[in-house]
Amino acid sequence: MTSSLGKVIVVGASSGMGAALTRQLARRGSSVAAVARRADLLDDVRATAPDRIHTYAFDTSDVDQVPALFERIVSELGGLDGLIYAAGAMPPIAEGEYTFDKDRTMVDVNLLGALAWMNLAAARFEAARAGTIVGISSVAGERGRRKNPAYAATKAALTTYLEALRNRCSRYGVNVVTAKPGFVDTDMTKGMPGLLWLISADEAATRILALADRQNSASGFVPKRWGLVLAIVRSVPSFVFRRLNF
Ligand SMILES: NC(=O)c1ccc[n+]([C@@H]2O[C@H](COP(=O)([O-])OP(=O)(O)OC[C@H]3O[C@@H](n4cnc5c(N)ncnc54)[C@H](OP(=O)(O)O)[C@@H]3O)[C@@H](O)[C@H]2O)c1
Repeated sequence: MTSSLGKVIVVGASSGMGAALTRQLARRGSSVAAVARRADLLDDVRATAPDRIHTYAFDTSDVDQVPALFERIVSELGGLDGLIYAAGAMPPIAEGEYTFDKDRTMVDVNLLGALAWMNLAAARFEAARAGTIVGISSVAGERGRRKNPAYAATKAALTTYLEALRNRCSRYGVNVVTAKPGFVDTDMTKGMPGLLWLISADEAATRILALADRQNSASGFVPKRWGLVLAIVRSVPSFVFRRLNF
């Protein structure tokens, strides 16, 4: 096991990739602080390794309370080597729908919450000259698709923030990782038909941990083959892209 993820916070640990990451980390010996709102689901995750998983019911959009919880977790874990931000929201947006409250939820959870946790981790790890920060962004941040503008915007912003953080901190020994999954079989994609190359949350978690374990501040698609698709998608000119419906 890499020592950089010995004591780790996972935000968004109650389901999907965050839950899979928490279980896999605990299985390989990490002490994990599992953070999310749904305490009952956190308890289910904890039951898989009660000695190694510690649960914290918390709404990450409550950004003013993040510093106090961060310090409490660091104290209760007896240090910190890694932060994984897996929390995310993607409410369904109907054709012709423009609902600001849904957009605000995505900005709060996908972006502002991530910044609140990652800034604290970056400051701590930069001072320690060690540590790993993993953000789960998305292929959705690579282009402004028409279906869910705010989701795409939050993921584009998260990807750019992580790139900047990597450029800022990696020279001080901090491993800043951007994971950009394609479609993963989780609550977020439940009921969506015909998803290309759908993988399980466990497979995604394994691939994300492999990116983090490289210790070279990697940014990568999950799985890698999405890189080819996105290279093509990014090359489509805007006047063509706006006529597409995916
Ligand atoms: N599924 C995909 O195809 C896919 C593809 C690319 C990227 N992603 C990204 O991957 C990440 C994980 O998503 P997932 O697919 O694993 O979906 P998921 O099963 O719905 O997991 C989302 C997690 O975020 C947490 N969360 C949501 N709002 C929160 C809040 N206000 N405070 C604290 N935690 C909150 C949820 O916990 P609570 O509800 O218990 O709070 C849950 O643990 C997200 O960032 C998503 O955007 C997903």
